[in-house]
Amino acid sequence: MCGIFAYTGSKGSEAPDILLKGLISLEYRGYDSAGIFTPESGAVKTPGAVAELKKKIPKGFGGKSGIAHLRWATHGEPTEVNAHPHSDSTGEIWVVHNGIIENFKELKKKLEASGHRFVSDTDTEILAHLVEEHLKAEQNFEKAAIAALNDVRGTYGIALQYKGEPDKLIAARMGSPIVIGLGDGEHFIASDPSPILPHTKSVVFLEDGDVAVLTPEKHTIYKLDATKVKRDPTEIDWSAEEAQKSGYEHFMLKEIMEGPEVVENTLRGRLRADGGAKLGGLEFVAKELGQIERILITACGTAYYGGLVGEYMLEEFAGIPVEVELASEFRYRSPVLNQKTALIAISQSGETADTLEAIREGKRKGALTLGIVNAVGSTIARETDAGVYNHAGPEVSVASTKALVSQLTALALFTLFLGRQRALSPQKAAEIAAELRALPAKIQKVLDDREKIAVVAKKYAQARDFLFIGRKYNFPIALEGALKLKEVSYIHAEGYGAGEMKHGPIAMIDENFPSVAIATKNSVYDKMLSNIEQLKARKGPVIAIATEGDAEIAKTADDCIYVPPTIEMLEPILNVVPLQLFAYYFAKEKGYNVDRPRNLAKSVTVE
Ligand code: AGP
Ligand code: GLU
Repeated sequence: MCGIFAYTGSKGSEAPDILLKGLISLEYRGYDSAGIFTPESGAVKTPGAVAELKKKIPKGFGGKSGIAHLRWATHGEPTEVNAHPHSDSTGEIWVVHNGIIENFKELKKKLEASGHRFVSDTDTEILAHLVEEHLKAEQNFEKAAIAALNDVRGTYGIALQYKGEPDKLIAARMGSPIVIGLGDGEHFIASDPSPILPHTKSVVFLEDGDVAVLTPEKHTIYKLDATKVKRDPTEIDWSAEEAQKSGYEHFMLKEIMEGPEVVENTLRGRLRADGGAKLGGLEFVAKELGQIERILITACGTAYYGGLVGEYMLEEFAGIPVEVELASEFRYRSPVLNQKTALIAISQSGETADTLEAIREGKRKGALTLGIVNAVGSTIARETDAGVYNHAGPEVSVASTKALVSQLTALALFTLFLGRQRALSPQKAAEIAAELRALPAKIQKVLDDREKIAVVAKKYAQARDFLFIGRKYNFPIALEGALKLKEVSYIHAEGYGAGEMKHGPIAMIDENFPSVAIATKNSVYDKMLSNIEQLKARKGPVIAIATEGDAEIAKTADDCIYVPPTIEMLEPILNVVPLQLFAYYFAKEKGYNVDRPRNLAKSVTVE
C-alpha cells in the first residue's frame, strides 16, 4: 500500500514545503492520488501526481504541522473525494491511511445509524469518524485514537491530526509499516525512512499495535491497551534510495520478499471459516457465475502463466471447463463466446492493451467479463463487469513477482468461490483454506534460505541456455521460471512440459545446457524423477526444486532447492518463489539493471 508523510515542528511555518518534498521521495512506491492537510490551512487533494497537487495548493497555504498521503486505492476509485486526508463530521479530525480496514462496512453502518454522514467510498474515512465518536467520551485525543483503533480489524499505517491540538500528531501501525523520525524540535511520521532521512537519521520503526503521540519536542509510544512502551531508536545509514527499497538492493528482491504479506493481504477478509470464499467484487454476479458453463482466461506474460495454473485449479475443484489464451492471440481470432461464458482477464497493471482489447471483444460477444487486477480503478478494472482486486500493493520492478503470487492466491479464492457453488465439498474447501492460511509462513521459509539459492545461481551464471520443466500445476511455473530468467538476465531459457522432453527438446541437452526441474512430492513426482534421470543420462546439469526432506532426489540432481510441502493445487504459489529468487540472483551476478531490464516496460499499454 502507499505513502504517508507527516510533520510537526517548531521551525516556522514550513510544513507544506517539507510535506510535499517528502511525498516526492515516496513517489517510487506507485500511487494514483495525493493529498495534504495542515490545521492552519485545511486540506487539498487530487487524483493523479504530486505535481497536480502542487498546482491546486493556494498561495499562503501554511502551517507548522501537517499530514500528507499518496494513495494506492483499494476501496473507491482514485478520485478527489476518495483521496486522503479524510475528516470526521466536524472537519476537526483528519487521517491519512495505508492498508485495508476489513470491518469498515459494519463500522460505517453503526456510525451512520448514529448520524454520521460519509462523503467518500473509502474504508479510511470511518477512522476519522470513529475518533470523533470516542473523543466525545474520552475528551482526550490520544485516548480517543487508541479507543477507535481497538474497534478496527484489518491493516493500517496511519497519521492523525486534530485541529484542537495542531502541533500534535498520532501515528499507529497494524500490518502496514510506519516509522517515526526524531528530529531536534521536530518529529516525522512516514511509511519508510526515505522522506525522513534529509532531516534526521534517528528513527523508530513502530511495531504492530503501537500508537505514537508526537509533538515538536517529544514522542510517546503506547500499545493498544494504552500502556506505554519504549522503542529504541535506530540510526539509519541508508541513502534515501536504499530506504525506498527497505534496505534491499533492488525493488525486485524487495517485492519477492513481500510474498508472505502479499498472500495475507490477498486473503484478508476473504476466507470463511467453512472454507468458502467471500469475494465482495463478485457478490452481485454470483447468480450468473452459478450458471456459467465455461471459463476463458486471457492475459499476457506472467499473468498468462498464472491463468494456466487457474485452469488446473478451476477444472479440478470447480468442475468447469476452462481455456486459457494469450490476449494477443485471442483478440485477433474469432473466439466462440456467449452468455454462458465467463471471460476472466488477469492483469497487474490493469492497462495492458492486448488484455484490454480481449475484454472488449468478450463484451461484444455477450460474455460475463471479470478482472483479477492489482491497480484499483484501472481501465481493465473499470471495463469488466466485476472482479477481484489483488491488494498486492504497488509493484515497481518490471519483472512481475509478488503480483503473480497474489494472482495465484486470488485464483485459489475464485476456485473456492465457484467450487462451493458446485460440487466442492465443505471438507475439501476447508482443507484448501487451511493450507492457504499456512502459505505465508511456508513462503517465508523459502525466503529465509535465499542465500543458498544465490549460491546456485552464481554456480550457473555462465550458462547461455536453460530448460525449465514441470508437470501439471508446475508446468505453468516452469514457463514462468524461464520467463523470469529471460527478462532479467537476457539469456535463452525455455519452459516445457516435462512430458514433452522426449518429443524434441532433449536433443539440446549436454553438459553446457542446464535444466531446472520442478520435482516436488506430488502426483507426478515419479515421472519427474525419470525426467531428471533422462537429463543426467545426457550429461545435462539439473537443479531440482524439491520437497524438504527428500533425500532421494539429491542422489540424481546436481543441486536441490528445497521448499516445504503443501497441497498440489497450491504448490505453484510456493514453487515460483525459488525461481523468482534464482532469476534475481542470476541477473545480479551478471551485473544487469535488475529492476529496469533492457527493452522492457512495466505496463505494455501499446499493441
Ligand atoms: C512479467 O515479469 C512481465 N513484466 C510481463 O510479462 C507482464 O506480466 C505482462 O506484460 C502483463 O502485465 P499485466 O499483468 O500488467 O497485464
Ligand atoms: N484502503 C485505503 C483506500 O483505498 C488506503 C489505500 C492505500 O493504502 O493507499 O483509500
